[in-house]
Amino acid sequence: MHILLTGGAGFIGSNFVRLVLRDRPEYRITNLDSLTYSGNLENLTEFENDDRYAFVKGDVRDPEVLGKVMPSVDAVVHMAAESHVDRSIMDSGPFVDTNTRGTQVMLDVWRRTHGSDKRFVYVSTDEVYGSLPLENPEIKFTETTPLDPSSPYSASKTGGDLLVNAYHHTFGMDLVTTRCSNNFGPFQFPEKVIPLFVTNLMDGEQVPLYGDGKNVRDWLHVDDHCEAVLTVLERGESGEVYNIGGNNERSNLELTHAILEIMGKGDEMIRYVEDRLGHDRRYAIDASKIKNELGWSPSRSAWPGALEETVKWYVDNRQWWERVKSGAYQDYYEKQYGQRA
Ligand code: NAD
Ligand code: DAU
Repeated sequence: MHILLTGGAGFIGSNFVRLVLRDRPEYRITNLDSLTYSGNLENLTEFENDDRYAFVKGDVRDPEVLGKVMPSVDAVVHMAAESHVDRSIMDSGPFVDTNTRGTQVMLDVWRRTHGSDKRFVYVSTDEVYGSLPLENPEIKFTETTPLDPSSPYSASKTGGDLLVNAYHHTFGMDLVTTRCSNNFGPFQFPEKVIPLFVTNLMDGEQVPLYGDGKNVRDWLHVDDHCEAVLTVLERGESGEVYNIGGNNERSNLELTHAILEIMGKGDEMIRYVEDRLGHDRRYAIDASKIKNELGWSPSRSAWPGALEETVKWYVDNRQWWERVKSGAYQDYYEKQYGQRA
Protein backbone atom coordinates (compact mmCIF):
# COMPACT_ATOMS: atom_id res chain seq x y z
CA MET A 1 0.00 0.00 0.00
CA HIS A 2 1.20 3.51 -0.84
CA ILE A 3 -0.05 5.98 1.81
CA LEU A 4 -0.27 9.74 1.44
CA LEU A 5 0.36 11.06 4.96
CA THR A 6 -0.26 14.73 5.67
CA GLY A 7 1.56 16.42 8.56
CA GLY A 8 4.23 13.71 8.64
CA ALA A 9 6.97 16.11 9.77
CA GLY A 10 5.18 16.78 13.07
CA PHE A 11 5.10 14.81 16.30
CA ILE A 12 2.56 12.07 15.57
CA GLY A 13 3.23 12.04 11.82
CA SER A 14 6.95 11.36 12.16
CA ASN A 15 6.27 8.58 14.66
CA PHE A 16 3.68 7.16 12.24
CA VAL A 17 6.27 7.04 9.43
CA ARG A 18 8.71 5.23 11.75
CA LEU A 19 6.13 2.70 12.91
CA VAL A 20 4.67 1.91 9.48
CA LEU A 21 8.02 1.51 7.72
CA ARG A 22 9.18 -0.77 10.54
CA ASP A 23 6.05 -2.93 10.84
CA ARG A 24 4.93 -2.93 7.17
CA PRO A 25 8.12 -3.20 5.11
CA GLU A 26 6.06 -3.56 1.94
CA TYR A 27 4.28 -0.18 2.40
CA ARG A 28 5.35 3.19 0.99
CA ILE A 29 4.68 6.64 2.43
CA THR A 30 4.58 10.01 0.73
CA ASN A 31 4.67 12.71 3.40
CA LEU A 32 3.03 16.00 2.43
CA ASP A 33 3.82 18.75 4.89
CA SER A 34 4.07 22.53 4.58
CA LEU A 35 6.63 22.70 7.43
CA THR A 36 4.97 25.20 9.74
CA TYR A 37 6.73 26.03 13.02
CA SER A 38 5.96 22.51 14.30
CA GLY A 39 7.02 20.59 11.19
CA ASN A 40 10.63 19.45 11.41
CA LEU A 41 12.43 17.27 8.87
CA GLU A 42 15.04 16.48 11.53
CA ASN A 43 12.39 14.13 12.96
CA LEU A 44 12.82 11.95 9.87
CA THR A 45 16.49 12.07 8.87
CA GLU A 46 16.81 8.26 9.15
CA PHE A 47 14.48 7.88 6.12
CA GLU A 48 16.20 10.35 3.78
CA ASN A 49 17.69 7.52 1.68
CA ASP A 50 14.84 5.03 2.08
CA ASP A 51 13.13 4.28 -1.27
CA ARG A 52 9.87 3.60 0.53
CA TYR A 53 9.66 7.19 1.78
CA ALA A 54 9.23 10.49 -0.09
CA PHE A 55 8.75 14.03 1.17
CA VAL A 56 6.73 16.68 -0.65
CA LYS A 57 6.69 20.23 0.71
CA GLY A 58 3.10 21.30 0.17
CA ASP A 59 -0.01 22.65 1.80
CA VAL A 60 -3.24 20.71 2.36
CA ARG A 61 -5.11 23.84 1.22
CA ASP A 62 -3.42 23.76 -2.19
CA PRO A 63 -5.49 21.77 -4.74
CA GLU A 64 -2.71 21.98 -7.31
CA VAL A 65 -0.11 20.11 -5.24
CA LEU A 66 -2.75 17.62 -4.05
CA GLY A 67 -3.75 17.01 -7.67
CA LYS A 68 -0.15 15.99 -8.36
CA VAL A 69 0.42 13.63 -5.40
CA MET A 70 -2.99 12.00 -4.98
CA PRO A 71 -3.26 9.99 -8.24
CA SER A 72 -0.34 7.65 -7.39
CA VAL A 73 -1.37 6.72 -3.83
CA ASP A 74 -3.79 4.09 -2.49
CA ALA A 75 -4.95 5.77 0.73
CA VAL A 76 -4.75 8.97 2.76
CA VAL A 77 -3.98 9.45 6.45
CA HIS A 78 -4.80 13.12 7.02
CA MET A 79 -3.24 14.49 10.20
CA ALA A 80 -1.78 17.87 9.14
CA ALA A 81 -3.18 20.47 11.49
CA GLU A 82 -2.58 23.45 13.66
CA SER A 83 -2.50 21.48 16.89
CA HIS A 84 -1.92 23.70 19.93
CA VAL A 85 -4.89 24.99 21.96
CA ASP A 86 -3.02 27.99 23.44
CA ARG A 87 -2.07 29.23 19.99
CA SER A 88 -5.69 28.90 18.84
CA ILE A 89 -6.68 31.20 21.71
CA MET A 90 -4.12 33.79 20.52
CA ASP A 91 -5.24 33.57 16.86
CA SER A 92 -7.86 31.17 15.56
CA GLY A 93 -7.49 32.12 11.85
CA PRO A 94 -4.85 29.56 10.85
CA PHE A 95 -6.78 26.86 12.75
CA VAL A 96 -10.02 27.29 10.81
CA ASP A 97 -8.07 27.67 7.61
CA THR A 98 -5.94 24.53 7.90
CA ASN A 99 -8.05 22.25 10.09
CA THR A 100 -11.47 22.93 8.56
CA ARG A 101 -10.90 24.39 5.09
CA GLY A 102 -7.76 22.27 4.54
CA THR A 103 -9.79 19.12 5.24
CA GLN A 104 -12.47 20.23 2.79
CA VAL A 105 -9.85 20.79 0.05
CA MET A 106 -8.29 17.38 0.81
CA LEU A 107 -11.70 15.67 0.54
CA ASP A 108 -12.63 17.45 -2.70
CA VAL A 109 -9.38 16.62 -4.48
CA TRP A 110 -9.45 13.01 -3.18
CA ARG A 111 -12.98 12.60 -4.54
CA ARG A 112 -12.07 14.20 -7.86
CA THR A 113 -9.07 11.88 -8.14
CA HIS A 114 -10.48 8.55 -6.94
CA GLY A 115 -14.27 8.89 -6.71
CA SER A 116 -15.52 6.96 -3.69
CA ASP A 117 -13.17 3.97 -4.01
CA LYS A 118 -10.18 4.64 -1.87
CA ARG A 119 -9.78 5.02 1.85
CA PHE A 120 -9.19 8.32 3.64
CA VAL A 121 -8.54 8.35 7.40
CA TYR A 122 -9.14 11.63 9.22
CA VAL A 123 -7.15 11.95 12.45
CA SER A 124 -9.52 13.94 14.65
CA THR A 125 -9.26 14.41 18.42
CA ASP A 126 -11.16 13.63 21.63
CA GLU A 127 -11.41 17.41 22.12
CA VAL A 128 -14.36 17.49 19.68
CA TYR A 129 -16.51 16.14 22.54
CA GLY A 130 -15.78 19.15 24.77
CA SER A 131 -15.21 18.77 28.49
CA LEU A 132 -16.35 16.28 31.13
CA PRO A 133 -16.99 17.24 34.76
CA LEU A 134 -14.52 16.06 37.43
CA GLU A 135 -17.42 15.05 39.65
CA ASN A 136 -18.54 12.00 37.62
CA PRO A 137 -15.37 9.95 37.00
CA GLU A 138 -17.41 7.04 35.60
CA ILE A 139 -18.52 9.09 32.53
CA LYS A 140 -16.28 8.84 29.45
CA PHE A 141 -16.57 9.94 25.81
CA THR A 142 -18.04 7.31 23.49
CA GLU A 143 -18.35 7.68 19.73
CA THR A 144 -21.99 8.76 20.16
CA THR A 145 -21.28 11.51 22.71
CA PRO A 146 -22.55 14.75 21.10
CA LEU A 147 -19.84 16.96 19.63
CA ASP A 148 -19.45 20.05 21.81
CA PRO A 149 -16.03 21.61 21.17
CA SER A 150 -15.02 24.47 23.42
CA SER A 151 -11.72 25.90 22.13
CA PRO A 152 -11.05 27.46 18.72
CA TYR A 153 -8.67 24.52 18.10
CA SER A 154 -11.27 21.87 18.87
CA ALA A 155 -14.00 23.75 16.97
CA SER A 156 -11.76 23.84 13.88
CA LYS A 157 -11.02 20.10 14.21
CA THR A 158 -14.77 19.48 14.61
CA GLY A 159 -15.30 21.35 11.32
CA GLY A 160 -13.06 18.79 9.59
CA ASP A 161 -14.71 15.92 11.48
CA LEU A 162 -18.21 17.00 10.41
CA LEU A 163 -17.13 17.44 6.78
CA VAL A 164 -15.76 13.88 6.75
CA ASN A 165 -19.09 12.63 8.06
CA ALA A 166 -20.99 14.71 5.48
CA TYR A 167 -18.82 13.58 2.53
CA HIS A 168 -19.28 9.93 3.49
CA HIS A 169 -23.04 10.42 3.76
CA THR A 170 -23.41 12.53 0.61
CA PHE A 171 -20.91 10.95 -1.78
CA GLY A 172 -20.47 7.45 -0.29
CA MET A 173 -16.73 8.03 0.06
CA ASP A 174 -14.63 5.50 2.00
CA LEU A 175 -13.89 7.73 4.99
CA VAL A 176 -13.01 6.76 8.56
CA THR A 177 -12.38 9.02 11.57
CA THR A 178 -10.26 8.51 14.69
CA ARG A 179 -10.61 10.54 17.90
CA CYS A 180 -7.65 10.11 20.21
CA SER A 181 -6.73 11.38 23.66
CA ASN A 182 -3.48 13.16 24.66
CA ASN A 183 -0.30 11.66 23.20
CA PHE A 184 3.17 11.60 24.69
CA GLY A 185 6.51 10.34 23.37
CA PRO A 186 9.58 11.46 21.42
CA PHE A 187 9.67 14.39 18.96
CA GLN A 188 6.74 16.29 20.52
CA PHE A 189 7.00 20.04 20.06
CA PRO A 190 7.98 21.56 23.45
CA GLU A 191 4.93 23.84 23.62
CA LYS A 192 2.94 20.78 24.79
CA VAL A 193 2.93 20.13 28.49
CA ILE A 194 5.23 17.09 28.88
CA PRO A 195 8.19 18.19 26.71
CA LEU A 196 7.75 21.77 27.94
CA PHE A 197 8.00 20.75 31.58
CA VAL A 198 10.87 18.30 31.08
CA THR A 199 12.99 20.72 29.04
CA ASN A 200 12.31 23.63 31.43
CA LEU A 201 13.44 21.46 34.35
CA MET A 202 16.57 20.43 32.46
CA ASP A 203 17.42 24.13 32.18
CA GLY A 204 16.69 24.77 35.87
CA GLU A 205 13.47 26.67 35.01
CA GLN A 206 10.14 26.31 36.80
CA VAL A 207 7.15 24.64 35.12
CA PRO A 208 4.05 26.81 34.45
CA LEU A 209 1.03 24.87 35.76
CA TYR A 210 -2.33 26.33 34.68
CA GLY A 211 -5.03 27.14 37.25
CA ASP A 212 -5.45 24.67 40.12
CA GLY A 213 -3.72 21.81 38.26
CA LYS A 214 -6.80 19.58 38.66
CA ASN A 215 -7.63 19.30 34.94
CA VAL A 216 -7.49 15.69 33.81
CA ARG A 217 -6.10 14.23 30.58
CA ASP A 218 -6.05 10.60 29.37
CA TRP A 219 -2.43 9.89 28.34
CA LEU A 220 -1.51 7.51 25.51
CA HIS A 221 1.94 6.74 24.09
CA VAL A 222 2.25 8.00 20.50
CA ASP A 223 3.20 4.51 19.22
CA ASP A 224 -0.10 3.16 20.54
CA HIS A 225 -1.96 5.97 18.74
CA CYS A 226 -0.07 5.28 15.50
CA GLU A 227 -0.79 1.55 15.73
CA ALA A 228 -4.48 2.35 16.21
CA VAL A 229 -4.53 4.65 13.15
CA LEU A 230 -2.85 1.92 11.09
CA THR A 231 -5.41 -0.61 12.36
CA VAL A 232 -8.27 1.70 11.36
CA LEU A 233 -6.69 2.32 7.95
CA GLU A 234 -6.42 -1.44 7.32
CA ARG A 235 -9.53 -2.82 9.01
CA GLY A 236 -11.87 0.00 10.06
CA GLU A 237 -15.45 0.11 8.73
CA SER A 238 -16.14 2.79 6.16
CA GLY A 239 -18.07 5.75 7.63
CA GLU A 240 -17.26 4.79 11.22
CA VAL A 241 -15.62 6.75 14.02
CA TYR A 242 -13.16 5.08 16.44
CA ASN A 243 -12.18 6.51 19.81
CA ILE A 244 -8.58 5.83 20.86
CA GLY A 245 -7.42 6.17 24.47
CA GLY A 246 -5.18 4.70 27.12
CA ASN A 247 -7.56 4.47 30.09
CA ASN A 248 -4.81 6.42 31.81
CA GLU A 249 -6.36 9.52 33.37
CA ARG A 250 -4.09 11.82 35.36
CA SER A 251 -4.61 15.30 36.74
CA ASN A 252 -2.03 17.83 35.59
CA LEU A 253 -0.79 18.00 39.17
CA GLU A 254 -0.28 14.21 39.26
CA LEU A 255 1.52 14.41 35.92
CA THR A 256 3.72 17.27 37.17
CA HIS A 257 4.63 15.38 40.36
CA ALA A 258 5.48 12.28 38.33
CA ILE A 259 7.82 14.32 36.09
CA LEU A 260 9.39 16.07 39.10
CA GLU A 261 10.01 12.72 40.77
CA ILE A 262 11.57 11.16 37.67
CA MET A 263 13.85 14.19 37.33
CA GLY A 264 14.73 14.36 41.04
CA LYS A 265 13.20 17.85 41.51
CA GLY A 266 10.94 19.26 44.23
CA ASP A 267 7.60 21.13 44.41
CA GLU A 268 9.40 24.50 44.46
CA MET A 269 9.86 24.03 40.69
CA ILE A 270 6.08 24.46 40.13
CA ARG A 271 4.94 27.96 39.14
CA TYR A 272 1.14 28.24 39.30
CA VAL A 273 0.11 30.57 36.46
CA GLU A 274 -3.15 32.02 35.20
CA ASP A 275 -5.49 29.37 33.82
CA ARG A 276 -5.93 28.75 30.08
CA LEU A 277 -9.08 30.56 28.89
CA GLY A 278 -12.01 28.13 28.68
CA HIS A 279 -9.73 25.32 29.93
CA ASP A 280 -11.48 21.95 29.40
CA ARG A 281 -11.71 20.22 32.78
CA ARG A 282 -11.47 16.55 31.90
CA TYR A 283 -11.08 14.28 28.89
CA ALA A 284 -11.65 10.53 29.20
CA ILE A 285 -12.02 8.07 26.37
CA ASP A 286 -14.06 4.89 26.18
CA ALA A 287 -12.04 2.93 23.61
CA SER A 288 -14.08 -0.29 23.78
CA LYS A 289 -15.29 -0.05 20.17
CA ILE A 290 -11.82 -0.23 18.58
CA LYS A 291 -10.81 -2.90 21.12
CA ASN A 292 -13.86 -5.11 20.57
CA GLU A 293 -14.32 -4.61 16.82
CA LEU A 294 -10.74 -4.26 15.56
CA GLY A 295 -8.72 -5.94 18.33
CA TRP A 296 -6.50 -2.91 19.08
CA SER A 297 -5.32 -2.21 22.61
CA PRO A 298 -2.44 -0.11 23.94
CA SER A 299 0.84 -1.90 24.64
CA ARG A 300 3.32 0.97 25.12
CA SER A 301 1.52 3.35 27.50
CA ALA A 302 1.96 1.67 30.91
CA TRP A 303 2.60 4.30 33.57
CA PRO A 304 5.07 5.35 34.92
CA GLY A 305 7.50 3.29 32.74
CA ALA A 306 6.39 4.90 29.47
CA LEU A 307 6.64 8.37 31.00
CA GLU A 308 10.14 7.62 32.34
CA GLU A 309 11.21 6.45 28.89
CA THR A 310 9.83 9.64 27.33
CA VAL A 311 11.56 11.89 29.87
CA LYS A 312 14.80 10.04 29.12
CA TRP A 313 14.37 10.69 25.39
CA TYR A 314 14.30 14.47 25.97
CA VAL A 315 17.22 14.21 28.40
CA ASP A 316 19.22 12.31 25.75
CA ASN A 317 18.19 14.59 22.86
CA ARG A 318 18.99 18.09 24.11
CA GLN A 319 20.32 19.11 20.69
CA TRP A 320 16.96 18.37 19.06
CA TRP A 321 14.83 20.41 21.46
CA GLU A 322 17.34 23.23 21.96
CA ARG A 323 17.16 24.00 18.25
CA VAL A 324 13.36 23.74 18.31
CA LYS A 325 13.10 25.99 21.37
CA SER A 326 15.24 28.75 19.87
CA GLY A 327 14.17 31.40 17.34
CA ALA A 328 10.48 32.20 16.86
CA TYR A 329 9.46 29.85 19.67
CA GLN A 330 10.94 32.36 22.14
CA ASP A 331 8.43 35.03 21.00
CA TYR A 332 5.54 32.62 21.48
CA TYR A 333 6.81 31.64 24.95
CA GLU A 334 7.13 35.26 26.04
CA LYS A 335 3.60 36.05 24.86
CA GLN A 336 2.18 32.99 26.61
CA TYR A 337 4.17 32.96 29.87
CA GLY A 338 5.38 36.57 30.24
CA GLN A 339 9.09 35.69 30.02
CA ARG A 340 11.56 34.09 27.59
CA ALA A 341 12.15 30.32 27.82
P1 NAD B 1 2.10 18.81 15.26
O1 NAD B 1 1.77 20.24 15.44
O2 NAD B 1 3.29 18.24 15.94
O3 NAD B 1 2.27 18.49 13.70
C1 NAD B 1 1.42 19.05 12.73
C2 NAD B 1 2.09 18.91 11.36
O4 NAD B 1 1.18 19.41 10.36
C3 NAD B 1 3.39 19.73 11.22
O5 NAD B 1 4.39 18.95 10.63
C4 NAD B 1 2.99 20.89 10.34
O6 NAD B 1 4.06 21.41 9.55
C5 NAD B 1 1.90 20.27 9.48
N1 NAD B 1 0.96 21.25 8.91
C6 NAD B 1 0.29 22.22 9.59
N2 NAD B 1 -0.47 22.93 8.74
C7 NAD B 1 -0.30 22.39 7.51
C8 NAD B 1 -0.84 22.67 6.23
N3 NAD B 1 -1.71 23.68 6.04
N4 NAD B 1 -0.47 21.90 5.18
C9 NAD B 1 0.43 20.89 5.35
N5 NAD B 1 0.98 20.59 6.54
C10 NAD B 1 0.63 21.33 7.61
O7 NAD B 1 0.78 18.02 15.66
P2 NAD B 1 0.60 16.56 16.28
O8 NAD B 1 0.55 16.67 17.75
O9 NAD B 1 1.54 15.64 15.64
O10 NAD B 1 -0.89 16.24 15.80
C11 NAD B 1 -1.12 15.58 14.55
C12 NAD B 1 -2.62 15.38 14.39
O11 NAD B 1 -3.13 14.56 15.42
C13 NAD B 1 -3.44 16.66 14.41
O12 NAD B 1 -4.44 16.54 13.42
C14 NAD B 1 -4.04 16.69 15.80
O13 NAD B 1 -5.28 17.38 15.78
C15 NAD B 1 -4.24 15.20 16.06
N6 NAD B 1 -4.21 14.78 17.46
C16 NAD B 1 -3.15 15.12 18.26
C17 NAD B 1 -3.10 14.64 19.57
C18 NAD B 1 -1.93 14.97 20.49
O14 NAD B 1 -1.99 14.66 21.67
N7 NAD B 1 -0.87 15.58 20.00
C19 NAD B 1 -4.14 13.83 20.07
C20 NAD B 1 -5.23 13.53 19.22
C21 NAD B 1 -5.24 13.99 17.92
O1 DAU C 1 -6.76 15.53 23.78
C1 DAU C 1 -6.08 15.54 22.56
C2 DAU C 1 -5.37 16.87 22.38
O2 DAU C 1 -4.28 16.88 23.29
C3 DAU C 1 -4.89 17.12 20.95
O3 DAU C 1 -6.01 17.18 20.10
C4 DAU C 1 -4.08 18.42 20.87
O4 DAU C 1 -3.55 18.58 19.57
C5 DAU C 1 -2.95 18.33 21.88
O5 DAU C 1 -2.24 19.57 21.88
C6 DAU C 1 -3.47 18.05 23.29
O6 DAU C 1 -4.22 19.18 23.80
P1 DAU C 1 -4.08 19.68 25.33
O7 DAU C 1 -4.49 21.10 25.38
O8 DAU C 1 -4.72 18.73 26.28
O9 DAU C 1 -2.46 19.53 25.50
P2 DAU C 1 -1.39 20.47 26.22
O10 DAU C 1 -0.12 19.70 26.26
O11 DAU C 1 -1.35 21.84 25.66
O12 DAU C 1 -1.96 20.58 27.71
C7 DAU C 1 -2.18 19.43 28.51
C8 DAU C 1 -2.71 19.90 29.86
O13 DAU C 1 -1.66 20.62 30.54
C9 DAU C 1 -3.86 20.87 29.74
O14 DAU C 1 -4.81 20.62 30.78
C10 DAU C 1 -3.24 22.24 29.93
C11 DAU C 1 -2.07 21.95 30.86
N1 DAU C 1 -0.90 22.84 30.67
C12 DAU C 1 -0.41 22.97 29.41
C13 DAU C 1 0.66 23.82 29.18
C14 DAU C 1 1.21 23.98 27.78
C15 DAU C 1 -0.34 23.51 31.76
O15 DAU C 1 -0.78 23.37 32.92
N2 DAU C 1 0.71 24.35 31.52
C16 DAU C 1 1.25 24.53 30.28
O16 DAU C 1 2.20 25.33 30.14
